Amino acid sequence: MCGIVAYVGDRTAYPILIKGLQRLEYRGYDSAGIALLNGETHVYKCKGKVKDLQALAKDKDISGTVGMGHTRWATHGEPSDRNAHPHQSMNGKFFVVHNGIIENYSHLKKELQNRGYKFASDTDTEVLANLIENIYLEQKVSAELAVRLALTRVVGAYGLVISCEDEPGTLIAARKGSPLVIGIGEHEYFLASDATPIVEYTDKVLYLNDEEVAVITRDSLDLKNLLNDSKTPEIQKITLSIDHIDKGGYEHFMLKEIHEQPLTIQDTFRGRIAMDESKIFLGGILDVMPKLINAKRIIIVACGTSWHAGLVGEYLFEQYARIPVEVEYASEFRYRDPIIYPDDLVIAISQSGETADTLAAIRKVKETQATILGICNVAGSSISRETDAGVYTHAGIEIGVASTKAFTSQITVLTMMALVLGSKRQTLAPELYHHLIHELIQVPKKIEEILKEEEKIKAIAAVYKDVSNALYMGRGLLFPVALEGALKLKEISYIHAEGYPAAEMKHGPIALIDENMPVLALAGNDTSYEKMISNIQEVKARKGKVIAIVSRGDKTIRKMADHVIEIPECHEAVSPLLAVIPLQILSYHIAVMRECNVDQPRNLAKSVTVE
Ligand code: M6R
Repeated sequence: MCGIVAYVGDRTAYPILIKGLQRLEYRGYDSAGIALLNGETHVYKCKGKVKDLQALAKDKDISGTVGMGHTRWATHGEPSDRNAHPHQSMNGKFFVVHNGIIENYSHLKKELQNRGYKFASDTDTEVLANLIENIYLEQKVSAELAVRLALTRVVGAYGLVISCEDEPGTLIAARKGSPLVIGIGEHEYFLASDATPIVEYTDKVLYLNDEEVAVITRDSLDLKNLLNDSKTPEIQKITLSIDHIDKGGYEHFMLKEIHEQPLTIQDTFRGRIAMDESKIFLGGILDVMPKLINAKRIIIVACGTSWHAGLVGEYLFEQYARIPVEVEYASEFRYRDPIIYPDDLVIAISQSGETADTLAAIRKVKETQATILGICNVAGSSISRETDAGVYTHAGIEIGVASTKAFTSQITVLTMMALVLGSKRQTLAPELYHHLIHELIQVPKKIEEILKEEEKIKAIAAVYKDVSNALYMGRGLLFPVALEGALKLKEISYIHAEGYPAAEMKHGPIALIDENMPVLALAGNDTSYEKMISNIQEVKARKGKVIAIVSRGDKTIRKMADHVIEIPECHEAVSPLLAVIPLQILSYHIAVMRECNVDQPRNLAKSVTVE
């Protein structure tokens, strides 16, 4: 949700800002802007993408060694030139880039209007710029104190970079709820919403914590909280490499990330499964293992694709570890009055580790004695830092807005956790434990086989690329995969798609079926197989088109379905990891054929740091 980048040092800021914004464009891409701050300040901003900003800045003065940039995902005010960041205060003293939402902006705006302030945009950010300026001018305090005083009046979330025209070599950064990373170089500092714009300049970073303010010049970084107490910067080393953030020859990040899955799943279990396949070792949760073993209930909180992974986790934990599980939308959970017991285990799943609702949900749980685990992909992210313990997914940076490899690595972690708990709680027989470890290890090779079917899946995409609706149905562990398949299709191709437990079809959705309706049927090779045959027959009886995902060698469904996509045989416990792959590929090709922007679908952003 919006990307921020900033630089202070000896280099020319412009190329660093532009490259940084391109890296952050996945976070929001409806408008972009920069401010170059040496001496006279130059602001260039426009509706559109970073390439439109580059065109705007062409032939303009782009000199300067201090600057800030922003790529926007609109919250307050439509995407437009005037709503693009950076925002300038009315008297031109302050420039602000902001990621987040100022919830009490309208109250503050009225107050400022009563003091004569006029506004040039519809944004909450401009309100903050003017609030800071008003305090600065009226109370005659330093820019940094004006920022801190203003922030004590703000309700909401912010990642901010601010500069004051009277102090041209200084950047002020602040964070509450929205991430901000500071890269530390030799006589230079880089600021960004995540580490991707920083990684090629330095591997030393500082993650700002909530309500921290950093005052940064070329030679100094002064860290404090809003109350002016000094804080000691905790400098960390990042391992992200530049190779992880290019397309590697693929047309889109999403396609690259789909194809990376045999490797990313291996990266998820690498070092966690003994070479002889005898056991799983999850170092990140070792300290809390007694609490996990004795947990009376697991509550999983997540959003979107991560919530679908949570549903897969529900089946696995209940089946193999015999612990009851509830899977909650974080956005609902945070506003309920949930009953949480001290021996509950709460698992937050989040690729980014920054999703505002998921973060708020775990903060609510922190008021109780329950144990909180995180399953995150982004190391050092807010959720990974605020949980008691956790397991990183190690899927590498995911840039495509549609989550693919993060989903399969989340499921890999959940599978390992369920097996560990099942083994330790003795609810899973040792033979089955070892067999399932073996099955998990075989998954990457089996995904490679599915990826070889891409041309066939592309041909099916060509048949259905113009449909308006699609249904997905699955049972058991494949029901969440049906939800995920439908989400993939709708978010990148804008085709309306819904996923259902197959047996629910006859309670309503079946009314939608006619000769124009494709139905994706996910058939496991377990006890639900016969029932899925009946469900497919029900669809065919109403002239629906069936695209079935079946186990290799299946003969029965092949005779009924319009198209079949085979996946290698596997144990049902790992079937979600295989069955989702053809659905990702199908959605990808349909979106490409519809000329949609696959990596940056409309209205979406990769990391949803506002509620
Ligand atoms: O970073 P998170 O996993 O917390 O993000 C949650 C959702 O916003 C995310 O999964 C979203 O649904 C994706 N666009 C799905 O592809």
